Amino acid sequence: MIPLPERAEILPDADAVAAAAADRLVALCQSAPRPAIAVCLSGGSTPKRLYGLLSGPAYRAHLPWERLHWFFSDDRMVPWTDAASNVRMARDAFGEAPIPEGHLHAMDTHGTPEAGARAYAETLRAFYGADVLDPARPLFDLVLLGLGEDGHTASLFPGKPALSERHAWTAPVPEAGLAPFVPRITLTVPALASARETLFLVTGAGKQEPLRRLARGEDLPVRHVRSVGRLAWLVDREAAGA
Ligand code: 6PG
Repeated sequence: MIPLPERAEILPDADAVAAAAADRLVALCQSAPRPAIAVCLSGGSTPKRLYGLLSGPAYRAHLPWERLHWFFSDDRMVPWTDAASNVRMARDAFGEAPIPEGHLHAMDTHGTPEAGARAYAETLRAFYGADVLDPARPLFDLVLLGLGEDGHTASLFPGKPALSERHAWTAPVPEAGLAPFVPRITLTVPALASARETLFLVTGAGKQEPLRRLARGEDLPVRHVRSVGRLAWLVDREAAGA
């Protein structure tokens, strides 16, 4: 078995990972300190399963949809109708979920990544109500992240400038490190850190290699992610090699 990061839970399969994440969201909603609850979503196949689960019969009635606001860790500079768009994926996976108008905060992926990144930082600031992140009052209740096969998370790719950003809340990513090779917008390390809880969802045999490299102490982007709250990993057996 691959030695896993601290606070990693091994679950039987991808469905169990999605269910464990859904349970954490329900618990975080119950303990939310403010009426509005902010969740930061990621793209990728692993979170998609979770979004479908949340909108389905097992969880739908247990979530305070009127209070929930959904944001994105990153998106690709493609139209919102494109198959590579994270907001499209989330919309499709949420299906008929009762998300109130204006509660799904998409990134503007139609212009330049620079303009889109600036606009999204404004969206986040307006929601947060301040220009400076206070560790005692995190921006997000829950940040959901994936692990790319090259060790990226959100759109923080190895060796790209966005990974070193320590002030701005968002960054343009003119060149992606992995397919689809389209420019991106990403939240930065400090914005992602402003969370009551951060959960990495990691499933499938393709994730063994980045987990092994992480265990060897390699400087992968995912290692830069911090949380002012609790940071935990939900890993399925296949990914953990267990
Ligand atoms: C993106 C994601 C990205 C993703 C990982 C894991 O839009 O590219 O936000 O960071 O979470 O690449 O994706 P999978 O779950 O599909 O492997």
